[in-house]
Amino acid sequence: PAPGWAIDADVVVVGSGVAGLTTALRCAAAGLDTVVVTKARLDDGSTRWAQGGIAAALGDGDTPEQHLDDTLVAGAGLCDEEAVRTLVTEGPDAVRRLITTGAHFDTTDSGDIALTREGGHHRRRIAHAGGDATGAEISRALVEAVREAALHTVENALVLDLLTDAEGRTAGVSLHVMGEGQHDGVGAVRAPSVVLATGGMGQVFSATTNPSVSTGDGVALALRAGAEVSDLEFVQFHPTVLFLGADSEGQQPLVSEAVRGEGAHLVDGDGVRFMLGQHELAELAPRDIVAKGITRRMLEQGTEHMYLDARHFGAAMWEQRFPTILAACRSHGIDPVTEPIPVAPAAHYASGGVRTDLRGRTTVPGLYACGEVACTGVHGANRLASNSLLEGLVFAERIAADIAEVRPPRTEPVQASRDADAPVPLLAPEARTAIQRTMTRGAGVLRSAASLAAADEELEALHREAAADADGPRVSKAVVPGVDAWEVTNLLLVSRVLVAAARDREETRGCHWREDRPDRDDANGRRHLVVRIGPDRT
Ligand code: SIN
Repeated sequence: PAPGWAIDADVVVVGSGVAGLTTALRCAAAGLDTVVVTKARLDDGSTRWAQGGIAAALGDGDTPEQHLDDTLVAGAGLCDEEAVRTLVTEGPDAVRRLITTGAHFDTTDSGDIALTREGGHHRRRIAHAGGDATGAEISRALVEAVREAALHTVENALVLDLLTDAEGRTAGVSLHVMGEGQHDGVGAVRAPSVVLATGGMGQVFSATTNPSVSTGDGVALALRAGAEVSDLEFVQFHPTVLFLGADSEGQQPLVSEAVRGEGAHLVDGDGVRFMLGQHELAELAPRDIVAKGITRRMLEQGTEHMYLDARHFGAAMWEQRFPTILAACRSHGIDPVTEPIPVAPAAHYASGGVRTDLRGRTTVPGLYACGEVACTGVHGANRLASNSLLEGLVFAERIAADIAEVRPPRTEPVQASRDADAPVPLLAPEARTAIQRTMTRGAGVLRSAASLAAADEELEALHREAAADADGPRVSKAVVPGVDAWEVTNLLLVSRVLVAAARDREETRGCHWREDRPDRDDANGRRHLVVRIGPDRT
C-alpha cells in the first residue's frame, strides 16, 4: 500500500522494550533525530513481563570471565565467543547506566545490589527489582526517560516493510497505524537508519510466556527485505510456566527461575525430586536440561505437568520476594504457600533471529537489529537465563554509537523492499490458531523428522491456500488488510523458516530436541543455519 503520511528522521527505532528504548534514548542523546514506533503502547512488549532479572558480574568475587563460561556452556557450542565477551564485559557498566537512567533495583541491607541465582549460573548474578517484577521496573524507568526526553513516539504502529532508496540502501519503514490522529492508516517514517527491536515470536506456539504482540514481525520484515536470519530452530521453552490446563492457549503466567534460585524443588506427582542426579546443578541446570527433564518425566508418567514446591519459603518470603508470582498463582486458585505449583514448559524465547555483527548491523546496509529479534551470537543454541535484558542494553548502546559515528545522509525511498516476484499473500486472522497448534504439535519442545514434516506440510497448505486467493503482491481478495492479518502472515512466514531449520538440524543441541536424533553431533552440527529469502542487498 502507498504511504499516506510520512515523518522524516535520522533514525527510526521499531519496538519499545529495553532494546528499543535504550537505543532511542542513546541516539537522541547523541543528537540524532529519533522516532520510536511501537505496535501497541510503549510498555506493551515482553520486557515488562520479565521477572527474574538481569544477569551481570556485579557481585563480590564474580567476574565477566565466569559469566562468559556459564554463557558458553548454556549455548552448547554455538555461541560466538567474541559476542559473549562483549556482553559480559560491557554488561556491568550498562546496568549501572540503566540505574542512572532511573531504574531501581532491590538492594541488600548494606545497600549493595541484591543478587539471586537462576539456571546455568554458578553464582548469584541476577539483579532484580520489586522482587519478581524486574522488567516492569526497567520498562517504567525507560518509558519515563523517553517521555522526559520528549522523544517522538508513534504507538499502535505495526511495521510492514523496509523502504529502500535508489541504491538499495535503507530509507525507512512503512507502517500501519490505528487511532493515532494525524498518523492514521498506512504511512512511513523515512530514515537512513532503521533499528528493529520488535522482540520475539512466542506467539508461533499455542502456549507461551510472551505477550500477544510477539508475532515475529521484525524477523518477517527482515526476511522480506533480504536480510540474513540465523538459528531460528533454537526456541527456548521455559521449564516452569504455570499449568492452567492442556487447552489453555496464548500468554501463560511465568514462574521465574529465581524461585528455584531461592530453593524451590521440582517434584513429580509422587513428590520425587526428579532433577537430582540428572545434572550437578539439579533444578538449576541450564534451562534446556530442566525443560527436557520435566518433559521426560511427564511422558514417563503420562501426566500433563509436574510441580514446583516452594511451600517451605513461608508466606512472608513469598509476599516479599515473589509478590507478582504469588498473586498470579492465587488468581488461578493455587496458593504456593500451602500447595505445590503445577508447572509445564512453554515457549519463551527465540535464541535466533536477524543476524548481526557486534555493532548490531544486519546484512542489509542501514538496517540494525537489537534484543530478542537479533541473533548477535551471544545465545548460541540456548540462552542463559537473564542474559536477554542485558543483551538488549549492551547492544543498544553499541548500535547508537555506530549510528552516531556513521551519520548516514537522508535519502528518498523509492520502493518497499518486498520482492515483487515473491508475493506475500495476506492470511486471514483465523489462521492464527491453526498455525499455533501445528507448531506446538510438530515443532514444540520435542521434535522429530516425522512431526516436523507434518508441520511443514500443514504450513505449506496454509500458504498455498492464501496464495491461490491472492489479488496482488500482498493483499488477498478475501482478507481485510489490518494488524491481525499482517500478524498472522508474519507468523506463517517465521514458522515456515523455523520448521525448515529444525528439519535441517539433524541432532539434539541446546533447546533443539530431536526425539529421533537424541545426540549432539559435533562433526556436523557446529554450524549456524542461515536463511535469506528476499532480494540480495549485501
Ligand atoms: C525467569 O525469570 O525465569 C525468566 C528469566 C529469563 O528468561 O531470562
